[in-house]
Amino acid sequence: MRPQDIIKQKRDGKALSDGEIAEFIRGVWTGVWEDYQITALVMAMFVNGLTLREQNTITREMLESGKVMDFSDIDAPKADKHSTGGVGDKTSLVIAPALAACGVAVPMISGRGLGHTGGTLDKLEAIPGYNVRLSFAEIKRAMKHCGFALAGQTDEIAPADRKLYALRDATATVPYIPLIVASIMSKKLAEGLDALVLDVKTGKGAFISELSESKRLASALCATGKAFGVDTQALVTDMTEPLGLYVGNALETYECLLILRNETPREALRTRELSVELASNVLVQCGIERTPAKARERILEVIADGSALERFRQNIELQGGDPRICEKPEKLIKTRLAETRILADASGFIKDVDSLVVGDCVSAVGGGRVKASDSVDHAVGFKCIAKIGDRVKKGDTVGILLTRTAKAALPVSEKLKGAYKISPEEPKPIRLVRARIK
Ligand code: URA
Repeated sequence: MRPQDIIKQKRDGKALSDGEIAEFIRGVWTGVWEDYQITALVMAMFVNGLTLREQNTITREMLESGKVMDFSDIDAPKADKHSTGGVGDKTSLVIAPALAACGVAVPMISGRGLGHTGGTLDKLEAIPGYNVRLSFAEIKRAMKHCGFALAGQTDEIAPADRKLYALRDATATVPYIPLIVASIMSKKLAEGLDALVLDVKTGKGAFISELSESKRLASALCATGKAFGVDTQALVTDMTEPLGLYVGNALETYECLLILRNETPREALRTRELSVELASNVLVQCGIERTPAKARERILEVIADGSALERFRQNIELQGGDPRICEKPEKLIKTRLAETRILADASGFIKDVDSLVVGDCVSAVGGGRVKASDSVDHAVGFKCIAKIGDRVKKGDTVGILLTRTAKAALPVSEKLKGAYKISPEEPKPIRLVRARIK
């Protein structure tokens, strides 16, 4: 069938057959379809919709455009956590070693930061020498040795999605749930997992801000995961204010090391809480613990007794990084950065900290990317001192921007000040876990 005949079907609102979808996806990754034909069909999908069957067929075809990892010779449940992305969202660096310390094998394939959201790979590369470019064989070796691997997407994983996502990004067709599901799940299913927990963010700093839409995305992701035989569950979690104490690559890695060292600062408690919630969900999914309460206890135990930190140390060594940062995490922080204090402009309670503004400002001073080919400055970032619900006095420092030069902070310091809303009334606490989807 010619591409234009398949495009015509969807243009006229008809469901595509499995064969037509297979031909389309094959056309994407073999280069047989022209970009204008791919984007015409994607726009027709966006406008006229996809059924659950079509969504799952696109997922399968994209998955099968690459290879699926085989960890059948590892005698442990294989599981992973995936986040839809947020500001200060750094839980992977706590979850992977904690799960490994509980006997789960974790092949965590992660991404890089883009726009206002950060990426796990950039945070890891703040560790001197750390290598995220691992082959399938190296991922397996790391899992056998220390229980987990943290690596970037290889060319072997769902290559059709790589091409399709770039075209969706350039044609304003990313925010459509069936296409998002196919994109995320084709990559996650390539990890050969038994269980997957999804952290679907909601609120200003999430790429879907409405709670009802975030829940819809979570349900759709879980339905597709289950259709492929993977126990998939989701937590819809709050991304109103930045998560934890820091936003910025090295700073976030530092925060995770503090948590793993049992030195969690007050402002990072939510980072630890979310890590524990997600990791304990996986322990129950894998049958390692029977109840959520026992699972939480177990995760807190492997953090408290240092075994999660020990796993991280082994992993850093294995992936070429300097493991001494586990003893001296402050070595991650550059000392000669300029500090710009953001001051409260009134007395009262912090009612809002706009995570989208904070993420954009950190990106603007070099901590993130505007386009995928940009490089990042691992050192710069923002320290979120005052959190929603805190009482402050006019002139108190609510946050500190860390930049290479004082001049670099000038274009964003007023915007950062505007991110803080202070009110005379104490706001209601925002629940961290807004919904659980099974
Ligand atoms: N993340 C992905 O990997 N794909 C999407 O389509 C959206 C977010």
